Amino acid sequence: MKPFLFVTDLDHTLVGDDRAMHELNQRLEQHRQQYGTKLVYSTGRSLTSYQHLTTEKSLLPPDILICAVGTEIYHQDSKEPDSIWFQKLSVGWQRDVVVNSAARFVDLTPQPDSEQRPFKVSYFLSEQAAVEVIPDLESLLEEQGVDAQVIFSGGKDLDILPRQANKGMAMTFVRQFLEFESARTVACGDSGNDIALFCDRQERGIIVGNARPELLHWHRVNPNPNRYLALAECAGGILEGLQHFGFL
Ligand code: GLC
Ligand code: MG
Repeated sequence: MKPFLFVTDLDHTLVGDDRAMHELNQRLEQHRQQYGTKLVYSTGRSLTSYQHLTTEKSLLPPDILICAVGTEIYHQDSKEPDSIWFQKLSVGWQRDVVVNSAARFVDLTPQPDSEQRPFKVSYFLSEQAAVEVIPDLESLLEEQGVDAQVIFSGGKDLDILPRQANKGMAMTFVRQFLEFESARTVACGDSGNDIALFCDRQERGIIVGNARPELLHWHRVNPNPNRYLALAECAGGILEGLQHFGFL
């Protein structure tokens, strides 16, 4: 057995089936201790919201924590995000212009303050309204000269991020930092903000069985042999995928 880099989303991917997560955690912790496997969580949550989750669920401490949809990278127990990544995202980012542009759309309801981050502006949006609002918002941002990306997840959350950041780009940064090859790296997810973990990637990908329609639809339109769609849900699906790829 050789070490691998394990990158996973939390809500409805690692977290969602307590029993399966307990079994997966045991396997991963053993692998970490025996072979030097590294654990990375990549969540849409802010650091505060992640810390709240750790009081409710028995999560293993990760080696690196990626918060706010790839825009903040925390090394071990550091409370300060990686400054190189932070610096990189500042280039050309105009947060005020993003907020003012989004304010023109009545269908966008701002998320709580805790989820508004330096490089992530977040709203709630209904699935019906999304069909029209997203392309219009993208055009407006472009007109305003902001190099941003709009990500819709779970049929209700809309995040606006700098072009240089998403879960996929943050994974590449962390993979290179920890010196793992793509073929020894695996990412797991269930919803729209996880598409970047799977898009045009050499890393292995696991989509859990309970994945959201937005991710399943994208997966069908963009097939990739490095990606596995599990039958089982949440952590059970991750375990299934890790065995499929021979990591465990
Ligand atoms: C998490 C975050 C929220 C974000 C969503 C999708 O739920 O708390 O701000 O919109 O993930 O990325
Ligand atoms: Mg999720």
